[in-house]
Amino acid sequence: MKEKETSRSSFTGKLGFVLAAAGSAVGLGNLWRFPYLAAQYGGGIFLLVYVILAFTFGFTLMTTEIAIGRKTGKSAISAFGALDKRFAFIGGLSSIVPVIITPYYCVIGGWVTKYLGVYLSSAGRAAAEDGYFGAFISQPWQPLVWFFVFVLATSVVVILGVEKGIEKASKIMMPILLLLSIVIAIYSCTRPGAIDGILYYVRPDFSKLSVKTVLAALGQLFYSMSLAMGIMITYGSYMQKSTDLESSVRQIEFFDTLIAFLAGLMIIPAVFVFSGGDESAMGAGPGLMFITLPKVFLSMPGGQLIGGAFFFLVLFAALTSSISLMETIVSILMDRLGWNRLFSTVMSTIFVLLAGIPSSLGFGVWSHVTPLGMDILDFFDFLSNTLLMPIVSFLICFIVAYILKPDFIIEEAKAEGAAFRTEKFYRFMIRVVAPIGIVAIWVSSMAASLGLISL
Ligand code: PHE
Repeated sequence: MKEKETSRSSFTGKLGFVLAAAGSAVGLGNLWRFPYLAAQYGGGIFLLVYVILAFTFGFTLMTTEIAIGRKTGKSAISAFGALDKRFAFIGGLSSIVPVIITPYYCVIGGWVTKYLGVYLSSAGRAAAEDGYFGAFISQPWQPLVWFFVFVLATSVVVILGVEKGIEKASKIMMPILLLLSIVIAIYSCTRPGAIDGILYYVRPDFSKLSVKTVLAALGQLFYSMSLAMGIMITYGSYMQKSTDLESSVRQIEFFDTLIAFLAGLMIIPAVFVFSGGDESAMGAGPGLMFITLPKVFLSMPGGQLIGGAFFFLVLFAALTSSISLMETIVSILMDRLGWNRLFSTVMSTIFVLLAGIPSSLGFGVWSHVTPLGMDILDFFDFLSNTLLMPIVSFLICFIVAYILKPDFIIEEAKAEGAAFRTEKFYRFMIRVVAPIGIVAIWVSSMAASLGLISL
């Protein structure tokens, strides 16, 4: 990704932009992470908080990041410095995020690859047995091999620079993923006993509302929408002035939230069905999707085939996201160290391969290593999504609201006469609600985690 305005290629039209950004946004965050968090944090209340945050905070931050990118024509690491030398550190801070996420993201990508392999080799029945997933991730070598495969697939695309081809393929794959998700969700929701699970997922129980739920939802929002790490800034820098910013953002966030919602509908009622209504099964954490869906597929007519198709599409969605993550690291190396694309990608790949190993082993031979009481993978996930992303987002809001001023973004959103219907709302969000809200949620939740207050 070159920094010179003249050499910047751009997405052709709105569809191209929306699809590329949605390709980065829709991934394991929606299909794997959202359902297990929703299950863990009280179901309906998590869903409600998430949706409210998505259309308020999510909208505000995504609009801001894309506008910064389009206005400066630069990727995140340079965009902040270009606005004001004093802000250059935000670029540095936000570039730590993909460095933390990519390795463990690829570990989960490896799990998905393994499950695709399972369905292709007609072993779906075994995968539905209790204990299958636990036995798989606790082995030292197998998960590592699949992780390596996933990382290499990501790197090959980045080295060959064929992202554009992948984007074209998303045009077909994403709608198929949507359709298949609807079919599986309908099937899950019509099983006997599913109704309790559906209610758990959609009916908010306010007694389960806590500040930790809100922080978890906020972290998930940043993660799922690829915010707070410069990706949307970079995408914005490739966006044409004539593309309508506001409606693009609306479409991306709608699609992203819809896929997450459907993933919950596929998985959460099924947990109820297959655990016989035992609510403790909801706390399964990162393994939830891998434990529950094989049981759904086993009970489904043609489940072997549907399971295979499903994991293939999830793998595709995961790859489009991991490519955007890896690409971010590569572009930082190219920008900062002046390395060429090939060398930068090779170095990033080696880094990701090494850095992902602890996350993978953390479920087996290194399971005694539990920083802050978490598995190693959960710990990295916590570092990026709960700790760093809110800080970066707060800084972006603060600077836009009080130093650059909201008009800086608003003018960009209105470029070439485009309408910005929610201008007043945006102004209020970026100046008051978003910065204060992020700090309040973050500080109170950290204090609660450390046992300083009980919320
Ligand atoms: N948004 C992606 C997902 O939901 C993950 C991701 C985060 C990708 C940050 C790029 C940047 O899976």
